Amino acid sequence: MHLNPGQNSPLQYPAKAAACYFDFRELRHGARTILHHDQTIRHDSPRRAWSGIVRTMTGPDHTHNDPADTITHFGFRVVPASEKGGLVSDIFHSVAGRYDLMNDLMSGGLHRLWKGAVIDWLRPRPDRHYIDVACGTGDIALRIMATTEGWARVTACDSSPEMLTLGQGRAIDRGVVKRLHWLCSDAETLPIANNSVDGYTIAFGLRNVTRIDRALVEARRVLKPGGQFLCLEFSQVAVPLLGYLYDRYSFAAIPWLGHIVAGDRAAYQYLVESIRQFPPQHELGEMIAAAGLRRVSIHNLMGGIVALHSAWKI
Ligand SMILES: C[S@@+](CC[C@H](N)C(=O)[O-])C[C@H]1O[C@@H](n2cnc3c(N)ncnc32)[C@H](O)[C@@H]1O
Repeated sequence: MHLNPGQNSPLQYPAKAAACYFDFRELRHGARTILHHDQTIRHDSPRRAWSGIVRTMTGPDHTHNDPADTITHFGFRVVPASEKGGLVSDIFHSVAGRYDLMNDLMSGGLHRLWKGAVIDWLRPRPDRHYIDVACGTGDIALRIMATTEGWARVTACDSSPEMLTLGQGRAIDRGVVKRLHWLCSDAETLPIANNSVDGYTIAFGLRNVTRIDRALVEARRVLKPGGQFLCLEFSQVAVPLLGYLYDRYSFAAIPWLGHIVAGDRAAYQYLVESIRQFPPQHELGEMIAAAGLRRVSIHNLMGGIVALHSAWKI
């Protein structure tokens, strides 16, 4: 799906998208929207009034001692921004061992196709340096290594030591040990040199980051000029009936599955809530542009259940 360069109302996009039907062809190269960095952005989306607070909200937090602290969302809960990282860490510490199995069960294996779409858009090449942030157990990093037959240099970065350890184990099992580096770090403060990576990917990670705007600025900082940014994330379903069914499924089945399979219902309740708190497609596109990345484009997969945002450092 395309917007003409002159079309600058984000409201036109959901209206158009809603007219689409559920299309499995979107699994790979779905609806496409281009945002231009100089486009005027309207802030009158009905969701914005409450969903925007997934980014750190300005304003004092009266429950916390640090007056500079701000508040944000952890799922549907409003929490001091200084606490969100710890809460997110606890989640991944708890579910790490069952994380991959849960992904397959929850998505019916579709997460593999969505991740395949990231690789299709990235088109990784040997001798290039890629960073996969919030890498979890290394799905994207391992795909980059497989696509380049081990010739790319990949930094797989995550703030959870447990997820990294599992990822390292998977890599060793597949004989991928050279040129793949594991880094424990927060997406907001990457210990990576300026202008040093050719591609930055983040899959189902940005939603968990406390200050999304800072993570995006970091992404731009570490990218070389000409480097590509790709974010895969759950997003706003553009087809009403699909949205209804998806809501029913996710609020009823996913926490239950989390309880049965991972022994942690709350972690998967957080997952479904955090998806609803995350900025919808256009709003995230605006944030990416505000971080200084250019040629932002949005590709809906499965009617917007998942969206892939691509942008470039120019
Ligand atoms: C839902 S998992 C996604 C993992 C993997 N990218 C995938 O698609 O399977 C989210 C990951 O983000 C990591 N994470 C959460 N907050 C982070 C942060 N601020 N910086 C870096 N990683 C973070 C978690 O530890 C977890 O491994």
